[in-house]
Amino acid sequence: MNGSASGWEKRQLNKYFFNTEPIPRLSCHDPLAEELIAQEKPVVLTDTKLCDSALKWDLDYLAENMGSEKYMVFVSKDNKFKYYDEAKIRQYSSNFIPPTRRVDMSFPEFVRKLKEWKEGDERIYLQQGLNNTVGQAIVMDFLQFNWEWLNVLQKKNNWGPLTSNLLLVGMESNITPVHYDEQQNFFCQLVGYKRCILFAPEYYDRLYPYPVYHPHDRQSQVDFENPDFERFPGMTHLEGVETVLGPGEVLHIPMYWWHQIESLPNRGHTVSVNFWYKGGPTEKVEHPLKPQQKLAVMRNIEKMLLEALKDPAEVGPLLRALVIGRYTGQVAEGQEGKL
Ligand code: OGA
Ligand code: FE
Repeated sequence: MNGSASGWEKRQLNKYFFNTEPIPRLSCHDPLAEELIAQEKPVVLTDTKLCDSALKWDLDYLAENMGSEKYMVFVSKDNKFKYYDEAKIRQYSSNFIPPTRRVDMSFPEFVRKLKEWKEGDERIYLQQGLNNTVGQAIVMDFLQFNWEWLNVLQKKNNWGPLTSNLLLVGMESNITPVHYDEQQNFFCQLVGYKRCILFAPEYYDRLYPYPVYHPHDRQSQVDFENPDFERFPGMTHLEGVETVLGPGEVLHIPMYWWHQIESLPNRGHTVSVNFWYKGGPTEKVEHPLKPQQKLAVMRNIEKMLLEALKDPAEVGPLLRALVIGRYTGQVAEGQEGKL
C-alpha cells in the first residue's frame, strides 16, 4: 500500500504487532461495492459524491458558519481519545477516572485553541452530532449531500433510520482507540487523512472488550501501542484490514466491526462526518448464528444478569460458576465461584 500520490506515505504510519490487508477501494458504481456492503464487509468508496458540498468545511468556514452554540470537545493529555459513557459512570462506576475531559466550547473558540496549540499542550478533539443549531450555510451544504445514493443503499440493505451525523474535527496524530459501534456507519472524510484499521466481529475474544456495564463498554481493553500479551494473550492472533481515507472518500464500517481511527501525523488537522444507521431487523434467523448475532446475544445476557444481580461485582462469579467444569473442559476448583 502506498498512497504517496494522494498525499501520505506508508512510513508515516505507526508500526503495530499485527498484520493487515488493504480494504478494497472501489467505485460506488462497481457491483462488487454493493455486494460488500450487503455482506457487511468494509469497503472504501472513492466516488460517491456523498459530501462533496462539505469538502470546503475547513476551520475558517466552520468557525464562520457553525453558529454560536457550544460544541463537545474532548481534551486529552496524550494523543488517545478513548470513548466513555457518562451515564454508566453515574450508574455503576463512581470511582472511574475518565481518560479525557469534556469541555464544551463555541466553534471559534475551538479553532483558536487549535491554531494556538504547541507541542506539550493537551490535545483536543471536537466530536459533535450535527443538529438544528448550525448556521444556514451548513444546512444548505447538508441538504446537498448525496441523499439519493444513501437512501437507495439504506433500502437495499434493509437498514433502519439514520440516527445521527457526528462531525469530528481533530488534530494530527489524534487516535480514537479500537472499539465497535452498534450501528452501520458511512464514514466520510472531508479534510486531511485518517488511517482506519478494522477487525471483523469474530475477533471479539481477541480484543477483550470491557464489560457492558463499564463506562468503556464497546471499547477494547487492548492498547496497540503498549500491548500487554500476558494479560491479553489472544491478541497475538489478530489480523486486520486497513486503509488511509482522504478527502471525498467514504468508508463503510459495518456494525460491530472493530475500528481504530488515527489522524495521520504531520498532515494537519482532520475533518470527518459520519452517517450512523440503525441495523435492519433480523428477518429469518439462520444457524449457526453469525458472530455479530452472537455478540448481540452476549450483550443481552450481560445486561440481564446485571439487571437481576444489581451489582457488577457479582456477574463474574456467577458466570464462572455457570460455565467452569460444566461448559468447559476445565475442572472447577471449588473456590472459583464464591456464589
Ligand atoms: C466512528 C468513529 C472516530 C474518529 O465514526 O464510528 O469511531 O476518530 N470515529 O473518526
Ligand atoms: Fe466508532
